[in-house]
This record gives sequence, structure tokens and C-alpha cells, in this order.
Amino acid sequence: MRSALTLLLAASPALAALKELWWNITYVEDANPDGLQPRRVVGVNGTWPPPPMDINQDDLLIVHAHNSLDKAATLHHHGMFFNSTSWFDGAQGVTQCTSHLPPPTYTFNYPTPTSGIPPNQSFDYVVPVNTSGQWGTYWTHAHASGEYVDGLRTPFVIHATNEPHAYDDEYTVVLGDWYHDQHEVLLAQFINVANPGGAEPVPDSGLMYFAQNGSYLPPIPGRDVDPVTSAVGFNENATLPFQPGKTYRLRIVNTSAFAAFFFWIDGHEMQIIEADGTDVEPYVTDLISVTVAQRYSILVTARNDTSSNWAIHANMDSDMFDTIPPALNPNVTSSITYAAGAPLTDSGFIDAYHDVADLSLVPLEVIPLPAADRTIELEVSFDTLTDGTNHAMFNLLTYNMPTVPSLFSQMSLGANASDPTAYGPYSFVLEHNEVVDIVLKNGDAGKHPFHMHGHKFQLVGRAEDYTSDDPTLNPPLVEGQANPMRRDTVQVPSMNSVTLRIVADNPGSWFFHCHIEWHLEVGLAVVFIEAPQQAQERNAIPQVAFDQCKMQGIPTVGNAAGFVDDPDDLKGLPAGPFPQKLGWRPKGIWAMTGCVLTAVIGMLTVTWYALGGFISDEEMEHEARVEQEQKDRRRGKLFSVFKTSRRAS
Ligand SMILES: *[C@@H]1O[C@H](CO)[C@@H](O)[C@H](O)[C@H]1NC(C)=O
Ligand SMILES: *[C@@H]1O[C@H](CO)[C@@H](O)[C@H](O)[C@H]1NC(C)=O
Ligand SMILES: *[C@@H]1O[C@H](CO)[C@@H](O)[C@H](O)[C@H]1NC(C)=O
Ligand SMILES: *[C@@H]1O[C@H](CO)[C@@H](O)[C@H](O)[C@H]1NC(C)=O
Ligand SMILES: *[C@@H]1O[C@H](CO)[C@@H](O)[C@H](O)[C@H]1NC(C)=O
Ligand SMILES: *[C@@H]1O[C@H](CO)[C@@H](O)[C@H](O)[C@H]1NC(C)=O
Ligand SMILES: *[C@@H]1O[C@H](CO)[C@@H](O)[C@H](O)[C@H]1NC(C)=O
Ligand SMILES: *[C@@H]1O[C@H](CO)[C@@H](O)[C@H](O)[C@H]1NC(C)=O
Ligand SMILES: *[C@@H]1O[C@H](CO)[C@@H](O)[C@H](O)[C@H]1NC(C)=O
Ligand SMILES: *[C@@H]1O[C@H](CO)[C@@H](O)[C@H](O)[C@H]1NC(C)=O
Ligand SMILES: *[C@@H]1O[C@H](CO)[C@@H](O)[C@H](O)[C@H]1NC(C)=O
Repeated sequence: MRSALTLLLAASPALAALKELWWNITYVEDANPDGLQPRRVVGVNGTWPPPPMDINQDDLLIVHAHNSLDKAATLHHHGMFFNSTSWFDGAQGVTQCTSHLPPPTYTFNYPTPTSGIPPNQSFDYVVPVNTSGQWGTYWTHAHASGEYVDGLRTPFVIHATNEPHAYDDEYTVVLGDWYHDQHEVLLAQFINVANPGGAEPVPDSGLMYFAQNGSYLPPIPGRDVDPVTSAVGFNENATLPFQPGKTYRLRIVNTSAFAAFFFWIDGHEMQIIEADGTDVEPYVTDLISVTVAQRYSILVTARNDTSSNWAIHANMDSDMFDTIPPALNPNVTSSITYAAGAPLTDSGFIDAYHDVADLSLVPLEVIPLPAADRTIELEVSFDTLTDGTNHAMFNLLTYNMPTVPSLFSQMSLGANASDPTAYGPYSFVLEHNEVVDIVLKNGDAGKHPFHMHGHKFQLVGRAEDYTSDDPTLNPPLVEGQANPMRRDTVQVPSMNSVTLRIVADNPGSWFFHCHIEWHLEVGLAVVFIEAPQQAQERNAIPQVAFDQCKMQGIPTVGNAAGFVDDPDDLKGLPAGPFPQKLGWRPKGIWAMTGCVLTAVIGMLTVTWYALGGFISDEEMEHEARVEQEQKDRRRGKLFSVFKTSRRAS
């Protein structure tokens, strides 16, 4: 850790602002942000939520993280490039250690990798904001053991040196889904033969809370809130003070594990000015859809009259929820306060939801589309696999973390580091400065937010149905675009494809995955190994990273399976489960995620698997048909709603 810092300091003699944070990652007992159920959460220095990060573009940020949990932890500064320093990216198994030994607290038979920063150890994350050319709205979250679902997540705001947009003041709006159970309990239920359809855990509530200048806004005075989180106002107890005549920037961050939100403010207009750290020309909208891990900034002009306060809405998109528990209120409301005691105007319902047409956003900084050298197609599917559990796949393969984290293979394999086989079957090696199209095809019935580490991609095109011959549904790519939208997280609805173009100009190992935590955990991920030779030349992995791997018995040299002599020998590399029979499912559209399994079918399936038997193809097909029909019915409902939809202008 010290070595990395000295290196950076030595590289540039002039001292710009150095911002250091000391984070002691701890459990916090009895936090109750939704006012419904106290639970243990993962926080910082004994408080929850973890402190919001707020820094300037010319700062160098160092987060000194100490892990006081009984399992490994990492921090991922989502969206930051870590150009040539991917060992600070915090992706467990890719850039930080991983181990396949289940931690002692796990009681189920799933090889959940542990590791990252081991218990009682520290790791200093150097976030080179002042050299990355990045500003805007980001977030920081754990990238290990599902800890972000348990609360280790916070907004990360970088103020631009030359802010292109004019506003008087700003607030950060944090949205997130919330579970009453611990992540590991939910995960054990999710990856389970009793859940062959892969129904994801449904959140128990949604949370909305606000931050400004690195602090959270307190509850509305007089509200009698839970003592553990009493410093922060949540939902109906949170409010944004507005003054007439002022224009506010609201930075909206979606920290969900599963649920997307639709966001709007009664009585006020919204203009989008930033998405995922890319400043855009103002885009007027009535509603913002923020999928997991996406960020938007909006400008909101205050009203001139103070006779009323106004409701802020964040409605969870329950479309992906397998069942909607009667107790769940998916619609969270906070408020804008002009005058304490003024009545609240809450117009409540909205006719229809719609997504932000992100391809229509226009970046302020013009970057034309370069020509692509190579195309990589990734098709998403979900299925009940050979072990009876439901998994996600890219191109019919489910991701497993390698024995040696990909970055450590990349750095240690010498000339063999360009051999794609060395990293296991879920990896792609990219040449330095190669221009790559990633064509993401969503063959699943659910919508998925995909995130690429170490890059912003250009959104080159979208198809509504990638299997169609109809050019309106499956249009050809338009080359030579003057300035396509760039972002780091993209939502891909069912049967849609999107084409993402990146320039492989960031040597390192970069994770590409679905940001729905449950889907990452069932393998919806691949790794891009970028510019191996250049990465080796710039290699400065801090010694502490090797030490912490060693402490946990994790090898740091060799290919994915830890072999040094033969890069293609993958003996012992974790793999599978596998599809029961390849080619069984036409077009892969009977995906079994997020699906409604009737209780009866669920029970029967449990019995079948409990008896150790497999379901026959006919039975499986019948089950899939029933599910698909139910899904179609739900979709039909949705589409009829869409017909009345007001489109964003
Ligand atoms: C970034 O900040 C660090 C720490 O203050 C400083 O040493 C370095 O010179 C800065 N780099 C640039 C390019 O400003
Ligand atoms: C956490 O506690 C340490 C030690 O008391 C302190 O130095 C640090 O500033 C605290 N960090 C935060 C974010 O409160
Ligand atoms: C971190 O917090 C734990 C639990 O509160 C405490 O025991 C420990 O001393 C703290 N460590 C540091 C480095 O602040
Ligand atoms: C962490 O350190 C404390 C005090 O040194 C020790 O009691 C505890 O067992 C350690 N925890 C782990 C998980 O190693
Ligand atoms: C936040 O910081 C800005 C500029 O640093 C300042 O103008 C504003 O008053 C601060 N707001 C609060 C609530 O402290
Ligand atoms: C808001 O405060 C009231 C008490 O004034 C409390 O009953 C309720 O649970 C709080 N809501 C949240 C989301 O904390
Ligand atoms: C947050 O992301 C989840 C998952 O994609 C989504 O369901 C939810 O609507 C998003 N929230 C907002 C406000 O967009
Ligand atoms: C507020 O009043 C000013 C001056 O009368 C006017 O220019 C402005 O458009 C009004 N703003 C809003 C949001 O109504
Ligand atoms: C949540 O809001 C949506 C859209 O206004 C509405 O259709 C739905 O009935 C609401 N749900 C609840 C439980 O209030
Ligand atoms: C990384 O840095 C190189 C210069 O060293 C630059 O050409 C490249 O564009 C940067 N890539 C990213 C993703 O920041
Ligand atoms: C590359 O792999 C071959 C075996 O395929 C091995 O003989 C050679 O030593 C390796 N080269 C390096 C630089 O590790």
C-alpha cells in the first residue's frame, strides 16, 4: 500500500489535494432505515449508511479500508477507470484475491468465493481522480460476498473543475432496494434446488435518502425515528429544502441489488444533464428510470410560490419481481419543503412507466465513433442446470471465479498472457488499443443492467428484437456516428440487443457483468483481459495484495488454475454447473429467471430433485411453457399500460 502511494507521489512532484478517508468496515446491529424491521447491516465506523464521498476533480482519493467483518470485503469505486492500476478496482476474483473455501458462517453447499481484504486486514484503495479525467456522479460499493446488498454502498460525487452546467445548489438522491434478511440467507434460498426457476429474492422495501456536501440530510424535525440510523432521514421522513427562484442539481444514484426505480417530482420539471459521469445536453423528461447502478443528474427549478410542499416519488419497478408480497409498498415518497408546515401536494399515481431513451442523450464532450476491429457476441440465458439450480449464462457458460484472480494471471504469465485459454472459458483477451464491439443479446425474459469495469462504452445501437429480420426491430449498425452516448451501465430489455463499443486503451483485467447482484452470483459475467504486455510493463500491484492472497492460501501466479508451465492446463478450475441438454430450448427464450412458478410446480420440482431424480424433458418443457405463458400474460398487461404512455420529449 505504501509502495503504491510513493509511486504515485514520486511520479508527479507537484502536490495536488490529497483526500484520505479511513473506513473501518463494521457490522452495525439493529439498523432500521425503513422503519419496519431492525436488522444487522454492513456499515462504516459503526454507523449506517456509510458516509457519502464528495471530492473535487483535482483530488487524489485514498480510502484506507480496514475490514472488521468476519469475512472478506472489497470496495469498488463504480465507474472509475483505474487506468493501468486495475488492482485498485476491488473486483473480487478478478483484481483482488478470491478463494473457493466457503467461510465458516455459510451452511449451504455453494462454493461462494470469499476473500478480498481478509478479516482484520487493511487495504488502501488509491483512486486517481485527478489523473482519470472523470467527474460527475459515481458510487462506491462492496464487490465481495454480496456485502453491498447488506448495506456497504454509498454515493461518490466528483465536482468538476469547470462545471459546464449552471445551478445554485445540489443534492444527492440515493435510491436503493432493501431486504430484511441477510444476504447470505437470501443467497442460500436463491441458489437452491428448491428454486429451480431462479426466482430472485424480492426486496422488502425501497429506500430514498439525501446527501449534500459529504453528509446525509437529517430526518424532518419532530419525527420519532429509529436511534441507530437517526442521523439520516429516510423516505417520508426525508426532505429537500428548496428556495423559490433557485435551480438545483439532483444527482440520482440507484444502489439497488435488484430493483429499478422510476423517479419523478410532483409540480416540477426535470432536465437530464448527466448520465453515469457523462455530461449531456439538457434533455427534458417527465420521468426517470434508473436501473441498478445507473446514475443521472437532473436540473430542477424551484417554484416561485411557497404555499405548498411537493412529493418526490421513487417507485420500484415490480415487473421483475416473482411475487409481490402483500406487505411490500414499492412506492417510496419523500418531499421538497418550501415552508415548514405547508401542506404536501402528492398527486400519487402516474399513468405509465417508460425508460429514458439513453441513445437520444447527447454528450457535451464530442467523441466520434471509431471503426471497430472486432466483434464479440454475448447472449444471455438462464436455465436450470445439471445440479438442479438455476444459473445465468453468457453463450451457455456460467461464470466461476478462477483460482488465481485474472489480473494476477495476466501479470505473471509473461508472453503466455496473450493466450485466452489461460484465463478459463469466460475470458476474452483484447489487444492494446483494439476497438471492440460487444453485442449483448438478452435472450432472457427479464431486463438486465450490464456494467463494464474500467471503461465507458459508446452506445452504438439497440435492436428491439435481435432475432428479427425486420430492420425496424433489428436495425443495422450506423457507422460514423458523430457523438454517440457514453456510459458505464446499460439496461437491456428482454429480446433486445445493444452494441457497445470500447477502445482497449486501459491495460488490466476488467469485469463485465449484470449488476443485479443475484445474477452476478449465478454467473452472469465475463472478464476482459486487456493489453497483457502493456499491463505487465506498468505492473505495480502493491505487495499487500500478494500478502493478503497468501494469508488465505490463494496462489498469485500462473493461469486461472494456478499452473505456471502449461498455460492451457485448467485441471481443477471451478466450472459448471452445465446445461442439462444443449439445444433443448428453442432460441433460448424460455429462460427461467424471474419467473412465476406456481406453488404446485415448485413443490413437485422440489420433490423430484429431493428424490434425486431429474425431470424429463417433457416435464421440463411443460414447466417452462407454463412459466412462459404466465410471463406473457404479465407482459401483455405491461404493454397495454405502455399504450397510454406519455413519451419523454
Ligand atoms: C494528483 O494528486 C496527487 C496527490 O495530491 C499529486 O501528488 C499528483 O501530482 C496529482 N496529479 C496530477 C496530475 O495533478
Ligand atoms: C473512522 O474512525 C477512524 C478512527 O477513529 C477515524 O480516523 C476516521 O476518520 C473515521 N472515518 C469516518 C468516515 O468517520
Ligand atoms: C474497527 O471497529 C471495530 C468494531 O467497532 C473495533 O473493534 C476496531 O478497533 C476498529 N478498528 C479500527 C482500525 O478503527
Ligand atoms: C481479529 O482480531 C481480533 C483481535 O486481535 C481477534 O480477537 C479476532 O479473532 C480476529 N478475527 C478474525 C476473524 O481473525
Ligand atoms: C455545500 O458546499 C457549497 C460549496 O462548497 C456551499 O456553497 C454550500 O453552502 C454548502 N451547503 C451546505 C448545506 O453546507
Ligand atoms: C418516519 O417517522 C415515523 C415516526 O415519526 C416512523 O413511524 C416511521 O417508521 C418513519 N419512517 C421511516 C421510513 O423511517
Ligand atoms: C434501480 O435499479 C433497479 C434495477 O434495475 C430498478 O428496478 C429500479 O427501478 C431503479 N430505480 C430507479 C429510481 O430507477
Ligand atoms: C418565477 O418568477 C420569475 C419572475 O416573475 C419568472 O421569470 C420565472 O419564470 C418564474 N419561475 C417559475 C418556475 O415559475
Ligand atoms: C405504485 O405506483 C404505481 C404507479 O403509480 C401504481 O400503479 C401502483 O398501484 C402503486 N402500488 C401501490 C402498492 O401503491
Ligand atoms: C488510459 O491512459 C492512456 C494514456 O496512458 C490513454 O491513452 C487512454 O485513453 C486511457 N484510457 C482510459 C479508459 O482512461
Ligand atoms: C509459455 O507456455 C509454454 C508451454 O505452453 C511454456 O513452455 C513456456 O515456458 C511459457 N512461457 C512463459 C514465458 O511463461
